[in-house]
Formats: sequence, structure tokens, C-alpha cells
Amino acid sequence: MGALAGRRILLIVSGGIAAYKSLELVRLLRFEKAAVSAVLTSGGEKFLSALSLQALTENNVATDLFSLDAESRMGHIELSRAADLLVVAPASADLLAKMAAGLADDLASTVLLATDKPVLVAPAMNVRMWVHPATAANIATLAGRGVHIVGPDEGPMACNEYGPGRLAEPPAILAAITALLSAGPLAGRHALVTSGPTHESIDPVRYIANRSSGRQGHAIAAALAALGARVTLVSGPVALADPPGLSVRRVETAAEMLTACEAALPADIAVCAAAVADWRVAEASGRKLKKEQGRAPPALTLVPNPDILAALAAPGPLRPRLVIGFAAETDDLRDNAEAKRRRKGCDWIIANDVAPGSGIMGGEDNAVLLISEAGVEEWPRLPKAEVARRLASRIASALAP
Ligand code: CTP
Repeated sequence: MGALAGRRILLIVSGGIAAYKSLELVRLLRFEKAAVSAVLTSGGEKFLSALSLQALTENNVATDLFSLDAESRMGHIELSRAADLLVVAPASADLLAKMAAGLADDLASTVLLATDKPVLVAPAMNVRMWVHPATAANIATLAGRGVHIVGPDEGPMACNEYGPGRLAEPPAILAAITALLSAGPLAGRHALVTSGPTHESIDPVRYIANRSSGRQGHAIAAALAALGARVTLVSGPVALADPPGLSVRRVETAAEMLTACEAALPADIAVCAAAVADWRVAEASGRKLKKEQGRAPPALTLVPNPDILAALAAPGPLRPRLVIGFAAETDDLRDNAEAKRRRKGCDWIIANDVAPGSGIMGGEDNAVLLISEAGVEEWPRLPKAEVARRLASRIASALAP
């Protein structure tokens, strides 16, 4: 409690059924002692009363009507000048389009055009509006200008559809705000971390898995958050608790992991620590396979899984600035890992020896090489949490202005 004491947030609430969640966000922000003022768009007013916002923020709420009549009391320049951060939650497709185009035809868009403060948007809309190329282009434009984006989440929607477009949950928006306003060296950066194994179904009760515990990936996610980054952790099935303050997406298969990673972009940093299954069963059975007397065991046909690291490292507008992979090898560690770094197109590879007897896979410690264009660094055997802290601080130095 009190993590945001003394920080001033201007919350802009635009239209959409998710507007009610902004009240919960205000409650969380007030609990953290942030000062919150709010702008409610005319669309937002259809879903939420200015009075509710006013009661929870304990501040005046600016609406088009009020502010256009009383420009001298609550000018748009003044509104953004008095804030450390502007948060648009929910951000409708329409308001995002206005922001991308630089329109200023109502109070919210005018404030957003007139500000020189950092801006965080939490989009919320129908899935088809979110996947429309116009919205995708607007999001890419805004991300390119340094606007921070949290969510949207995927799930059932008020419009009876399923998919990405749901407003990020208020605790995840709060985590993004805290990261942006924190003083750590990775403040304002978004890091995407994959962790744990994947499970690839054979039938409803059996799956292919591996020995990854997720300890190293989870520790990296926590270490990046401790330096102020906003972290999205995409985790396969693990027996670990979700690290606090992160946005955690739990997945089972490699295909789900790829979808969750792509949905989390843009990011400044991607660390792929997951032990993704290289293959999945070509056609998983929808029913439990039975062993029938006298019949040979089933032959499993495997097909390759998508390579998440290679996909994130591929050149493109959404490629994170720093993409880091892991190489688990039992032979020729250095050469194999360097070859893997080049093949997958990532910037750094953290190589570790997983030969039987090393105790690394699933264990408490790790002994790694950091391989980059600049050469190879050998780190001593360290607890995984310490490897994570070192890596996070190397990442912070690499991204330092
Ligand atoms: N990786 C991934 N998606 C995959 C396979 C691997 O993102 N489908 C990532 C891992 O998270 C890790 C890196 O790629 O960061 C290396 O994984 P590893 O299993 O060591 O290498 P492979 O690509 O599987 O190569 P090989 O099996 O030849 O060692």
C-alpha cells in the first residue's frame, strides 16, 4: 500500500462496456495513494456516471460539457500538465484511431494531443475491431511513438464472442502504471518472458512434456520487474506461484504459448526461457486411446511446433529491441549455442549444460555462458535467482539510453 504516493494520474475513460472496470482501477490507484483525476468522454458517459468517478477519485471529473463550458477552470493543457502519467482505460477503437491520426475534436483527444507526458493505453473492444488492420496499424503507430500499451486480454466478451479485446484486468493495469512510474532502470520498459515446459496432448489424459520447472524463467521475470519493467510472463504448466505484480498468462501447448506471446507485443525485451516441446502429436486423439488385447501400441506421428524464439526474433516492426534465448545442450555447449543464436536470429543466448549429472534441469543452480555478437562470457555456478538478477541488470545496461 502506498507504492504510488505523491504520483498524479490522469485517467481518461472512453466508451465501452468495460468502462465499469475503470472504477476498480481508481480504487486500486487510491489504495496505492496515487492522486487521480479523470476525463470521461461522451462515449464513456453512456456507460459510467461522472458522479461515480468523482466519488472514487475524490476529484472533479472533466467531461466535454463541463470542460468546454469552463475552459478557464479546467483547461486541457492544465489537465495534462498536472499529471505524471496519462492512462486511457478503457481505450476504445475510436479513441485509439483519433490518437494515431492526431485528431483533437473532444476533450480526451485534445488532452492526449496536447500532452508531453507518458501515456498508457488499455484497449478494449470487440474482437473483430481489435483484429481489424486499421486498429492494428493504429496500435503499431502509437507503439512506435512510445505510447505504452497494456492488454487487451483474451476471453469471453460482452458481445458473446471470444477472443482478444477484453480490457486488461485492473491489477494488470495497476502493475503497468507502477512499472511506468517506478524509478528502476527498466521503468517504462515492457518485458515478455516465457517460462516452464509445454504439454502436448496425445489424448485427453496423456501428454508429452519435459523436465523444466520454470524456476529460471520465473526468476528472470521477477528480476526484470524488480528493476521497474512491466513484465508479461507466459508460462507453461508449472508448480510455481505467479510472481506478484506481473501479468501472467498460463498456457499448455507451444501453439498457445506463441499466440500469447504475439498478443503481448509490443515489448522492448523478450526472454525465451521456456523449454518448448519441439514436436507435438500430429493429431491428438479426442478420446482416450485404449489398449486392446493383441493390438500393437499406437505409433505417434510427430510434427514440428512453431519456434517461438525465432518468431519473436524475426525482423519486423514489432521485434523487441533485445531478444534473448536459452540453449540447453549436452555436447559442444559453446559452438552449438552460438550456432543456435545465429539460426534463431536472437541477440543473446544464455547457454547451459544440461548433461545428466549437472543437476541443472529442474535444480536450484545454473552455470551459464552469455553469448552475444560481442563474444562469450562465462558466469560461475550461481543460484537461478542470482543468474536472473545478473541477467536483468545486463539487460538494463544494454537498454540504458
Ligand atoms: N524455443 C522456442 N520455441 C521452440 C523451441 C525452442 O521458443 N519451439 C526457444 C527456447 O525457449 C530457448 C531456445 O529456443 O530459448 C532454444 O531451445 P532448445 O530447446 O535448446 O533448442 P532447439 O531449438 O530445440 O534446438 P535443438 O533441439 O537442436 O537443441
